[in-house]
Amino acid sequence: MYKRKSRKLDEPREMEAKVGIIKRADGSAMFKIGNTIAMAAVYGPRNLYPKFMQNPEKGILRVNYNMFSFSVSERIRPGPSRRSKEISLVSENALLSCLNLEEFPNSVIDVYIEILQADAGTRCAGICAASMALADAGIPMRDLVSAISVGKVGDAIVVDLDKEEEDYEGGSTDMPIAMMPRNGKISLLQMDGNMSKEDIKKALELGRNTCNKIYELQKRTLKEKYMVEVENE
Ligand code: CDP
Repeated sequence: MYKRKSRKLDEPREMEAKVGIIKRADGSAMFKIGNTIAMAAVYGPRNLYPKFMQNPEKGILRVNYNMFSFSVSERIRPGPSRRSKEISLVSENALLSCLNLEEFPNSVIDVYIEILQADAGTRCAGICAASMALADAGIPMRDLVSAISVGKVGDAIVVDLDKEEEDYEGGSTDMPIAMMPRNGKISLLQMDGNMSKEDIKKALELGRNTCNKIYELQKRTLKEKYMVEVENE
C-alpha cells in the first residue's frame, strides 16, 4: 500500500489564508496549501466596456488564471497558454455558482488569480483564494467556494496530491473538485487519470470532508479581518 512520509492519506497539506493583501483591489486574498501559493484580486462590479458588451439583464464574471514565471523550477513562459485558458474557464464556472449576476446589470467582476509558487493543486488554491477575495470585495454571495484535489496514488485514495505524487511512478489520478460547502453542490469536477466508480465515491467523500475544513479556515480568516476593523472603529 502506498504510504506518505509526513501526513496521513486523508490529510491535506498545511494551509494558511489571508484577506486584504492587495490594498488597491476591491477585494483580495492569499491561499497557501503546502508549497502551493495562490493570490487573487477582485475588481468590480464595475461598468463593462466596450459598451456593446453590456447586458442590461445581468453582469459577467471574468477570471484570469496565471502562473508566475518563477512559480516552478523551469521558467514558465509569460502570457496565456492552452493550460491557463482552460484553468481560467473552469475556475470561472466554479465561482459562477456562488454569484447572482442579475444583481449587476451592465457590469463586470474581474478576478485575477496569480500562482506565486506551484506544487500541484494550483487551480484549487486559486479558487479558494478567489472566493475569499470576492467576499472581501463585499460582493453578495450564496456561499464561499472551497476546492481541493483528491485522487489515487498507486493503490491508495488520497487527498491533496503534491507534485511528487502527481508524478508517482506507480501511476496516479488527480481529481480536482470545488463545491459550495453549505449545500454541497459541486461546481468543478475534473479528472486526469482513471478511477473506478467505487474509488471516485471514496475520493469524493474525502474531498467533501477536506472542503469543510477549508471552508472553516476561509470563514475564520474573513471574520478575523472584519472583527479587527469593527473593533478599531
Ligand atoms: O496545478 P494544478 O494541479 O491545478 O494543474 P496541473 O495542470 O495538473 O499541474 C500540476 C502541477 O504541475 C502544477 O501545480 C505545477 O506544480 C506543475 N506544472 C509545471 O511544473 N509546469 C507547468 N508549465 C505547469 C504545471
